[in-house]
Amino acid sequence: HHPSRVTLVEVGPRDGLQNEKQTVPTATKVELVHRLQAAGLREIEVTSFVSPKWVPQMADNAAVMAAVQRRPGVRYSVLTPNLKGWEAAQASQPDEIVVFGAASEAFSQKNINCSIAESIERFAPVVAAARAAGVKVRGAISCAVGCPYEGAVAPARVEEVARRMAAIGVQHVGVADTIGVGTPRQVQAALEAALRHYPLHEVSGHFHDTYGMAVANVLASLELGIATFDTSVSGLGGCPYARGATGNVATEDVVYLLHGLGIETGVDLDALIDAGLFIREALGQTSGSRAARALQAR
Ligand code: HMG
Ligand code: MG
Repeated sequence: HHPSRVTLVEVGPRDGLQNEKQTVPTATKVELVHRLQAAGLREIEVTSFVSPKWVPQMADNAAVMAAVQRRPGVRYSVLTPNLKGWEAAQASQPDEIVVFGAASEAFSQKNINCSIAESIERFAPVVAAARAAGVKVRGAISCAVGCPYEGAVAPARVEEVARRMAAIGVQHVGVADTIGVGTPRQVQAALEAALRHYPLHEVSGHFHDTYGMAVANVLASLELGIATFDTSVSGLGGCPYARGATGNVATEDVVYLLHGLGIETGVDLDALIDAGLFIREALGQTSGSRAARALQAR
């Protein structure tokens, strides 16, 4: 019993590019956003307002946001880990912000330099300020099935973070398999933990594809009725604080899956593939999307 329509949140410009060693020119990032929106994506995670010492690739956050020619109906989001990030992001007028926590203490420390409890304390004023400004707040729960430092993560820990995020007013949670280790039943258990505190339409799946499980995990999520997924064009990316983790599930592969199931996405697969080729050529890389490679070879 799948949803008839799925919303894809394109995270390539943020999650995809944040891990690239080579500095990607601002104009290339902007062009990528333009191609993604032209391909029909209606939610785009553009950049993050984090410390440029931690993630140099995102240092041009404000410049990217300023240069994007916005399309009506498209929602542009940015990551904001703390009040400083929110204050910097505000001038860019994002439609949504993302606070990002973790279900594992060790990952929280490595990624945002504080404990889970401290992260919730830091997020609370960000959430309040954003909501007062009419900006929607999403929360990401990293390491929802496994952690590069702690190993397996129990669903109860996801539930605890979801509960705390709900308590401070976070409106949506993304269940993130940061290192792509999860298999379908594990991912369902993590999603069900989040669903104890959020309705179906406010829970999304964010799956990295390290072990090749991400498309299976999208299908397993659809079986629960989950209808929002973070995906990355051409499978770009990884997390700088999760060594060895590959990119998110490729948007092209998820679109191919969904269209094959008769589920609407609003995305034009050919235009999406072109957007993926554009950014991979700019990076001097080949696509990480199986569907893009197969369709190109035809
Ligand atoms: P900190 O060092 O604990 O922060 O970093 P601090 O408040 O002590 O400040 C230290 C310095 O950073 C100061 O500058 C601040 O001004 C500056 P200095 O006085 O040394 O010159 N600073 C900032 N600068 C710009 N923007 C800010 C900001 N905050 C402080 N917002 C902090 C804490 C969170 C900032 C840091 O740990 C950080 O930036 N981490 C980045 C983490 C990150 O971007 N990770 C990747 C994204 S998350 C992800 O990929 C996972 C996800 O995809 C889901 C999944 O797959 O799991 C979402
Ligand atoms: Mg991620």
